[in-house]
Amino acid sequence: MLIDECRIDNTITPEEYMEFRKIVGWALFPLEQAQQGLANSAYICCIRKGDEAIALGRVIWDHGYVVYIADVIVLPEYQGQGLGRVIMELIMKQIGEWLKPGYKAMVSLSSAKGKEPFYRKFGFQSRPDENFGCGMCQWMEGSTDI
Ligand SMILES: CC(C)(COP(=O)(O)OP(=O)(O)OC[C@H]1O[C@@H](n2cnc3c(N)ncnc32)[C@H](O)[C@@H]1OP(=O)(O)O)[C@@H](O)C(=O)NCCC(=O)NCCS
Repeated sequence: MLIDECRIDNTITPEEYMEFRKIVGWALFPLEQAQQGLANSAYICCIRKGDEAIALGRVIWDHGYVVYIADVIVLPEYQGQGLGRVIMELIMKQIGEWLKPGYKAMVSLSSAKGKEPFYRKFGFQSRPDENFGCGMCQWMEGSTDI
């Protein structure tokens, strides 16, 4: 299995992170902004084959009840070989370890189009449903004339 040839660590450089985003066609932004986001993430896991980062997961947590899974990316040539599952299992295990007895957290994410069935495998429900409206979002851009 591919995962047996890999190692997992908890760091990723801003350059590696932006390269992942570029490869999967996600929005790009300055390296400095990536660096700040990575530094303030509550959990990062990265699967490496040799020195190459081939899959990553990243979680934002407010240390209260709000947890947001920000990025789950497997490089295209390594998809479909169980790495996404490994990343999600590591993330869910970490979140479980953050929660003391009696605590609860709302764990949310924005699924990329068509990836909803992947996340359903880990207990996520699509919105809207009988209890929740749609998740909503927007991109905002920094302006020089504020
Ligand atoms: C989504 C993504 C992370 C899945 O990673 P992956 O390594 O290909 O997934 P795995 O091989 O570990 O698959 C895990 C399980 O999910 C299923 N699965 C994966 N992608 C799926 C999809 N698009 N639809 C339905 N099921 C899917 C697999 O069949 C597998 O099922 P099983 O474990 O029950 O046999 C990967 O496709 C990816 O990085 N895509 C580009 C970035 C992206 O869209 N990320 C999600 C952002 S929100």
